[in-house]
Amino acid sequence: METHSQKQYISEIKRLKIEKNAIILAHYYQTGDIQDIADFVGDSLALAQKAASNSADIIVFAGVKFMAETAKILSPEKKVLLPDMNAGCSLADSCKADDFKKFLNDNPGRTVVSYVNTTAEIKALSDIICTSSNAVQIVESLPPGEKLIFAPDRNLGNYVLNKTGRDMVIWNGTCHVHEEFSLEAILKLKKENPDAKIIVHPECELPVRMVADYIGSTSALLNFTRNDTGKTYIVATEVGIIHQMKKEKPGKKYIPAPPRDSTCGCSECSFMKVITIEKIYNCLLSEKPEILIDKNLLLRAQKPIQRMLEISENLGL
Ligand code: 13P
Ligand code: SF4
Repeated sequence: METHSQKQYISEIKRLKIEKNAIILAHYYQTGDIQDIADFVGDSLALAQKAASNSADIIVFAGVKFMAETAKILSPEKKVLLPDMNAGCSLADSCKADDFKKFLNDNPGRTVVSYVNTTAEIKALSDIICTSSNAVQIVESLPPGEKLIFAPDRNLGNYVLNKTGRDMVIWNGTCHVHEEFSLEAILKLKKENPDAKIIVHPECELPVRMVADYIGSTSALLNFTRNDTGKTYIVATEVGIIHQMKKEKPGKKYIPAPPRDSTCGCSECSFMKVITIEKIYNCLLSEKPEILIDKNLLLRAQKPIQRMLEISENLGL
């Protein structure tokens, strides 16, 4: 069978998008070639906002499954496609619905704040959703005396706890990428590049957050490198974001923070990287694999996400 070149795939994708009134939404952790053909590139919050308001008939989600599910939940009338259903998430996997139900029973009377990096089932069990861009503001928007549960990322949860001082019980989940950064290697890089600023995603462990010059979600880190007067950055998040940083400010230097085990290549999210240009083409052509969610589950998961979007809009996030 004849296979297409990368160039042919890209031109076919462009043609199919017009023919089918489809858009491609891509997360910053996708490879550069995918970010470049996307109609919209963003962090989890911006992608949810875009999924909730666009005029396409088909959304091709270049990201991971929980993001595509969120898009479907916010736009149930659209066809939402995920080019490879193996694009999971170690963090979402660390929080299974049955275990979470037990956790809620063991900690009754608490408002449940869940990170968007969860399955639709977990969202349906939550009162409100947040992303790393708005987690602090979402928690602060809740009445001060309210007791909370935060799930599933323990590092983001601890970051939010330190910022807000709220009464919070935190689920013990982590992201395999952000958990793995080596403090030692980061400090060595800092020694070799004394002018570099260390910029860190809040899913990273406390020792790494403690040496950060700046902590923020992927879009916040991008904003920082865009507006900051510095010239060199040690970037402790998934390497994909560096593509946008270089595009926006090509004169600056971006050094990816290395993982503890340099053979594991952990600063790349293996789930994000299963998506390829070829798979995007195949999925646009065949309109498969499609995200399908039981209607009742979808409606229950929709409420807490919409609550997040309303608060974010009111806060101008
Ligand atoms: P943000 O997109 O909110 O920065 O989250 C990063 C992440 O881990 C997505 O999987
Ligand atoms: Fe999940 Fe971490 Fe990959 Fe994000 S980077 S999709 S949290 S495993």
